[in-house]
Amino acid sequence: MTPQCTNGVMPMFVTATGQVLPCCMTQYYDSPFSNDPLFNVNNASFGDIITSDRWHEMLASIPSVNDPVCAKFCSSEGSRVPFDPDDTPYNGGTGHRMDIIQVELTNTCTLKCQYCRRQTHPHRLNRDHLPLDVAWDVISHKHWFKLIDCAIYGDPIWYDHNFALLDRMIDNPTMDHYAISLAATGRGMDYWKEMVDRWDKLNQRGVDMYIVFGIDGGPSTSKIHRVNQDWNEITQALQLVAQTDITPILQFIPMSFNEHDLDYMMLLAEKWGAEFLLRRSHRFVGNDTNKPSEGLFDDYEKRTTQTV
Ligand SMILES: C[S@@+](CC[C@H](N)C(=O)[O-])C[C@H]1O[C@@H](n2cnc3c(N)ncnc32)[C@H](O)[C@@H]1O
Ligand code: SF4
Repeated sequence: MTPQCTNGVMPMFVTATGQVLPCCMTQYYDSPFSNDPLFNVNNASFGDIITSDRWHEMLASIPSVNDPVCAKFCSSEGSRVPFDPDDTPYNGGTGHRMDIIQVELTNTCTLKCQYCRRQTHPHRLNRDHLPLDVAWDVISHKHWFKLIDCAIYGDPIWYDHNFALLDRMIDNPTMDHYAISLAATGRGMDYWKEMVDRWDKLNQRGVDMYIVFGIDGGPSTSKIHRVNQDWNEITQALQLVAQTDITPILQFIPMSFNEHDLDYMMLLAEKWGAEFLLRRSHRFVGNDTNKPSEGLFDDYEKRTTQTV
């Protein structure tokens, strides 16, 4: 069968309920495979799933990126490579980027961010956590994995087994690249210290660590987007990371109500020893009044290139 999806960059995605999906987008709509018990790591090992004939048949049946559903959700244009399920690292080939895996360890979160799918898909909020052994089965499957710890319906800081999973990663080298996206607060600083200590150990062992903190505005505007976020906690957590050899990343999504804080936050990032990442949101629809000013990204690029 001829594979139709030509998107070679989106990584495979494992949900907090254990579902293995060909990319993170496929969970936004109900497809024949999004609830298939044969593709659930609670029922079968990750290795068995992704080497099964059925998995390859499913990959070949993904609608084209020109399909209205895929086109609506998939934002990876410009980075596509031909997709061929018979040419992947799993069968000795060099094709589809199956060396990256994105994992949603939990779909728990305490924030109520504007535009988060938690607000539009409340039926997904089961507060599931991947069982520790199941998460480890996925993460430790192959050595070439780059791991992206970024949920769609939750925040990594709320995963039940964070310490135990990180301890396994420290004791058993697996991936060489670990990217984490966080924005939630409420665990308290003692918890963050335990996490940062483990991230530091992984970094010292040679894992490239990318720890992204979603802080979208200054002290009084960030919580307009990141509803319930504790500014002091999230910024202290970022500064704890900066005290290690890992450079934390301060991610700022500009919106009309926070863009006047952009310069201030760039200065704070510099002061704290963080990289600054201005991230464009594609979630505004129509004449949404939260859209940032036209040209903001162009201005930002000019300013950053001038200072380099
Ligand atoms: C739903 S979040 C889950 C991870 C984490 N809880 C967080 O919010 O960063 C997944 C990704 O979407 C990003 N994100 C959150 N709100 C967004 C928005 N309004 N527009 C674009 N991306 C957003 C996050 O920064 C993160 O990289
Ligand atoms: S922190 Fe992330 S998962 Fe939680 S509500 Fe905000 S965007 Fe959603």
